[in-house]
Amino acid sequence: MAVLVTGGAGYIGSHTAVALHDAGYKVVIVDNFVNSSPKAIEAVRALTSPGLAFVEADLLDSGAVRQLFAQHQIDEVIHFAAHKAVGESADQPLRYYRNNLGSTLGLVEAMAEHGVTKLVFSSSCTVYGQPATVPVTEAAPTGAESPYGWTKYMSEQILRDAAAVSDLDVVLLRYFNPVGAHESGTIGEDPNGIPNNLVPYVMQVAIGRLEKLRVFGDDYDTPDGTAIRDYIHVVDLAEGHVAALAALASMDGCPAVNLGTGVGSTVLDVVNAAADAVGSPIPHEIVERRLGDIEKIYADAALARDLLGWETRRDLTEMMRDHWNWQRKNPQGFAT
Ligand code: NAD
Ligand code: WQD
Repeated sequence: MAVLVTGGAGYIGSHTAVALHDAGYKVVIVDNFVNSSPKAIEAVRALTSPGLAFVEADLLDSGAVRQLFAQHQIDEVIHFAAHKAVGESADQPLRYYRNNLGSTLGLVEAMAEHGVTKLVFSSSCTVYGQPATVPVTEAAPTGAESPYGWTKYMSEQILRDAAAVSDLDVVLLRYFNPVGAHESGTIGEDPNGIPNNLVPYVMQVAIGRLEKLRVFGDDYDTPDGTAIRDYIHVVDLAEGHVAALAALASMDGCPAVNLGTGVGSTVLDVVNAAADAVGSPIPHEIVERRLGDIEKIYADAALARDLLGWETRRDLTEMMRDHWNWQRKNPQGFAT
């Protein structure tokens, strides 16, 4: 009896594997390390049990996926595995559609063949684009502005259609902006190359790998002029998956649920909280807006509370403290 965690060597999957273990679940991870390190599996094992099952396989390899279901008694699945870089997806759209849609289709087919009917899917607030109003509820219009975003939009639709005509029950979790790390500082976000996302960039400035943060625009209609996001501690996010699995036991259909704090923070709020955590200022300069950026988005978190009985417990100070702890202990990420 186990939960299959696809992409469990990655940032959110590794934290969720630990949270599942802490909640008493047996975990089987599958990953092909296309965007992660075998060292993440070692670190998850050190935080859980040496017997944690790991299968190195590409989810596009349907034979390997069938073998995985044949060899392990899987009861439920959490599907994280995907390519996730918005900019890269614009340059390599077919690679993104093949990986993100192909892995989801193959996985759901293998689940059906093996009578596995419970799935938690990693979606994203990117499906809301630029919302007309904030906080954004799950009823807001959806669409996408990048091939990556379309893969999430299309995966949601594929899963809704499959759930409508089968025993499949799915929760589509729309994450806002995950940051932070496990309190041990032994697992965390380890981006390849120069980070695109704010907090990994800030932390690499703090550790001296990058010189200075460029703040993209200070002329937005927000209190300090910089853009607003809903940053969520990755351990809160991981616990949201445990709550979603528990809720799936008595749930039918395919609801979409926001996982966010409901609190919006500006870029400068993050820079200041990071400086407090690090104990020194984060060098930064204001530059032009980034093309395609959203001005303001944060979650309406009520449905997660009502449907999953889950809400976040960690604030921006704890997010920055824990992200810095990981960065400080692992200046080069898992290559340290
Ligand atoms: P990540 O890149 O750290 O983890 C994804 C993992 O999936 C990696 O370990 C990668 O090696 C693996 N993988 C990818 N394709 C695979 C394949 N075909 N077969 C086997 N393994 C494969 O990313 P993350 O930040 O942990 O994100 C996890 C999920 O959450 C993704 O679906 C992502 O789109 C979604 N999401 C992430 C964010 C975010 O800001 N991090 C926000 C919203 C949604
Ligand atoms: C946050 C804020 C930037 C870097 C991403 C994905 C999206 C979804 C959520 C996956 C913005 C500013 C950033 C920098 C900056 N992920 N910034 N200087 O924009 O919410 O989107 O995460 O599904 O698909 O694109 O996150 O971390 O890139 O940016 O000023 O060097 O920080 O302009 O306001 P975003 P982000």
